[in-house]
Amino acid sequence: MLDMSNAAIADLEVSDFGICQAVMVFGEDDHAVGAYNFKVGTLVGTLCVLCGFDPAEASRWAEAASLHDLGKLWIPPDILLKRGSLSAKERRVMEDHVVFGYTYLKHLSTLAAEMALSHHENFDGTGYPEALKGDEIPMSGRMVRLCDVYDALRTERPYKKAMTHEEAVEIMLHGDDRIRPEMFDPELISLFERHHRQFEACFNC
Ligand SMILES: [Fe+2]
Repeated sequence: MLDMSNAAIADLEVSDFGICQAVMVFGEDDHAVGAYNFKVGTLVGTLCVLCGFDPAEASRWAEAASLHDLGKLWIPPDILLKRGSLSAKERRVMEDHVVFGYTYLKHLSTLAAEMALSHHENFDGTGYPEALKGDEIPMSGRMVRLCDVYDALRTERPYKKAMTHEEAVEIMLHGDDRIRPEMFDPELISLFERHHRQFEACFNC
């Protein structure tokens, strides 16, 4: 558990705050709930380069994005890893991971905290925690949203199988019962559509 008075925290290089530093401060993800996500980080780095970021800045955003689900460390694993659908109460508890992540990261990395808080906002205003819409959502959160959904579709979980790249692309571009293309920033989903093979290569590396 984070102790903000811990002098060791003051020695951290905030601009490079990433998984290694976070594990030092917050500990390992003992229950494998996905609190640290290197894949989403590298996917966001790829998206940043496609958006024209210079390599150093893309790398910094990738580091920060790898911590977007840090708040899951404070959510009961039996909720996060539950097979089958969540009750309304369980869903509210699960959704708190964005606020926990923001709260614990805000003094360590402004960018990572911003990503933690906004990565479940949807471009069409149907997300959480604030139901922000369009440009109200920070660009960092819009980027993580797209990469996080792709990663979630491609990844096996205790309660679901992994999809192929082609299946994931089809759902992100055309939707299913849970995903709608309108959830994503139109410019980012357009980039994804044109360069999806780069995301596949990044995911497989
Ligand atoms: Fe999340």
